[in-house]
Amino acid sequence: FLQMINLISSGVLPPRKRFPDAIIVGVKKSGTRALLEFLRINPLIKAPGPEVHFFDKNFNKGLEWYREQMPETRIGEVTIEKSPAYFHSKMAPERIKSLNPNTKIIIVVRDPVTRAISDYTQSSSKRKRVGLMPSFETMAVGDCANWLRANCTTKTRGVNAGWGAIRIGVYHKHMKRWLDHFPSQNIHIVDGEKLISNPADEISATEKFLGLSPVAKPENFGVDPIKKFPCLKNDDGKLHCLGKTKGRHHPDVEPSVMRALKEFYGPENKKFYQLVNHWFDW
Ligand code: A3P
Repeated sequence: FLQMINLISSGVLPPRKRFPDAIIVGVKKSGTRALLEFLRINPLIKAPGPEVHFFDKNFNKGLEWYREQMPETRIGEVTIEKSPAYFHSKMAPERIKSLNPNTKIIIVVRDPVTRAISDYTQSSSKRKRVGLMPSFETMAVGDCANWLRANCTTKTRGVNAGWGAIRIGVYHKHMKRWLDHFPSQNIHIVDGEKLISNPADEISATEKFLGLSPVAKPENFGVDPIKKFPCLKNDDGKLHCLGKTKGRHHPDVEPSVMRALKEFYGPENKKFYQLVNHWFDW
């Protein structure tokens, strides 16, 4: 037994694949990739490269398949996975809880209007090959009833609230499910706007939430001279920025549609602030 204790404390036990200690569950298009890449500054944080999508799409593949997707870790290292569609998945909170009720949940949020435009920009860039999507304005407030998977038959306060890009941003509805399954001290909210303006602070706060001593410092970051988003900076000063699918150019949206969205989200955002006991300035 003592020999085993010695092996553990000296880190000699062979590394093995473990279920995640923490999961970045969302929100899609709020900076989830940046968060994960920046957390990797901490050598104790290990994560699989691609999104695993176990608790939504791949659940029938079974728990052993899930574990197999994880990196090998030693005692004391923290395994994280990120699949941003978990946030708005009806089943994910319950399934994660039944695997491990102590799982730490991380959620990046940003202004849901910006998030919706980012989501639209991603969908329309993917759909270029199958025909251009209607404009953002049509999708958000117009007649988008015929468009794939957009339910625009009824409007809420003038907005197509059934369109996925809008629906995901009604954060309090999804958040409620997470709070029904996990204690609030196991849920950490990352401010997606601050992750852009002051990444070191947001990363340090997340490292602390994970029970680690913060490693991230302002000097680990530089700013992409073209996209203006933060990038990781090497010891030699070289910048490593996220790929070309992050920090895309967004369309200019008509001011009247921006106003309609702001009004639509106003009361929804307030419900979210109350739920998480944190005020944002969206
Ligand atoms: P856009 O590409 O629409 O600007 P996610 O990783 O969750 O899909 O989020 C993508 C969004 O993260 C990007 O959307 C961008 O606005 C934001 N983001 C935050 N930090 C970033 C960074 N350091 N580099 C690039 N994009 C970043």
